[in-house]
Amino acid sequence: MTVEKGYVQAPIPQGIDLKQEILRLKQERNAVIMAHYYQREEIQDLADYIGDSLALAQLAARTDAPVIVLCGVHFMGETAKILSPEKKVIVPDLSAGCSLADSCPADEFKKYIEDNPGHTVISYVNTSAAVKALTDVVVTSSNAVQIVESFPQDEKIIFGPDRNLGNYINSLTGRNMKVWDGACHVHEQFSIEKILKLRDENGDAKILVHPECPKPIRIVADKVGSTQALLHYAVESDSKKFIVCTESGILHQMQKQCPGKTFIPAPPEDGTCACNECNFMKLITLEKLYNSLKYLAPEIEVEPQIAAKAVIPIRRMLDISQKLGLIK
Ligand code: 13P
Ligand code: SF4
Repeated sequence: MTVEKGYVQAPIPQGIDLKQEILRLKQERNAVIMAHYYQREEIQDLADYIGDSLALAQLAARTDAPVIVLCGVHFMGETAKILSPEKKVIVPDLSAGCSLADSCPADEFKKYIEDNPGHTVISYVNTSAAVKALTDVVVTSSNAVQIVESFPQDEKIIFGPDRNLGNYINSLTGRNMKVWDGACHVHEQFSIEKILKLRDENGDAKILVHPECPKPIRIVADKVGSTQALLHYAVESDSKKFIVCTESGILHQMQKQCPGKTFIPAPPEDGTCACNECNFMKLITLEKLYNSLKYLAPEIEVEPQIAAKAVIPIRRMLDISQKLGLIK
C-alpha cells in the first residue's frame, strides 16, 4: 500500500460488498464516520453523523472514538485534529481542498493583519490551520452573524476570507468590518437570471441561499443560511418547492427529510458545467473510504505549534456558540 496523490493506492478486492465491508471495518477499527452535507449520497448514507461545519467541529470535539474518518475537505479534517489531537483523524483523500481556503494564504493574511493593527481577527472555518493560528475567533455560517454581534458595535474587525459572507454580515449588523477578498468557486457560479426564471416557472417556490453567494443572489432569497439552516427551513416550511442555491449534495438530505417536497438545484451561469458541485467534496468515494478504513490512512497532521495557536479561536467559537444557545 502507498499513499499517492492524497489517497491510499491499493486494489479493491473483487466481488466484495463495499458498503458492508466499510461498516465491518468501521466496527473493527472502532472508528466513527462523519460526513458533510456536500458529500456524495452513498457516503452520506453510510455516515454515523452528517452535519454542517459547526456540527462536525462539535462532534469531533466530543466523540469518544479513537479514529475519526472525516468525509469532507481538508480544513474540516484539520479542525477535527486540532480539537482531538490524541485521535487518528483520516480524510480519505487529502487533496480534497477548498477554493475559499486557498484564496487566503497565511503569509498574505498575516501581512494584512499587520497592515491593519488594532483589529480583532474573525475567520471563517473554511481556512487553513495556519490562518486560524492568526485568528482571534473562528466562525461558521451557522454562527457568524451572532458571534460578530457578540462584540461591541464599535469593535474594529478584520473578517476573512469570504467576501460574500463578510459583506452579508456587514449589511445585517451595520458593522464596517474589513473584509478579505476571497470567495468559493461553487457559490459564485449561480445565475440570477436563471434563478428568477425558475421562480417564475415554479410559482410558490422558495429560494434558499448559502451566505457564500454574492449579493444579487442573496437579496432574492427567502432564506439565507448555513447548510443546516437551509435544511431546517425546508423541513419546517409549508412550501412544497424550493430552489436551492448551494452545493447540490444538500439536496439528498432535503429529499430524504421532506419526501413530499420538490428541490430544484439552482443553475450555474455556465450551463455546460456542473459548477454547483464542489469538485473537492466529490473526491471522496466509497473506494477511498474503504481503503482509508482498511489501512487507517491518510492521516491529517497539523504542526504542533500551529495547532496550539489554532485551537484557541476554534474553542472560543464553540464556547461563544454554547453561551449564545446556538449549540448544546
Ligand atoms: P456549512 O458550514 O454551511 O456547511 O458550509 C460549509 C461550506 O464549505 C460551504 O461551502
Ligand atoms: Fe470550499 Fe466552496 Fe467546496 Fe465549500 S463548496 S468546500 S467553500 S470550495
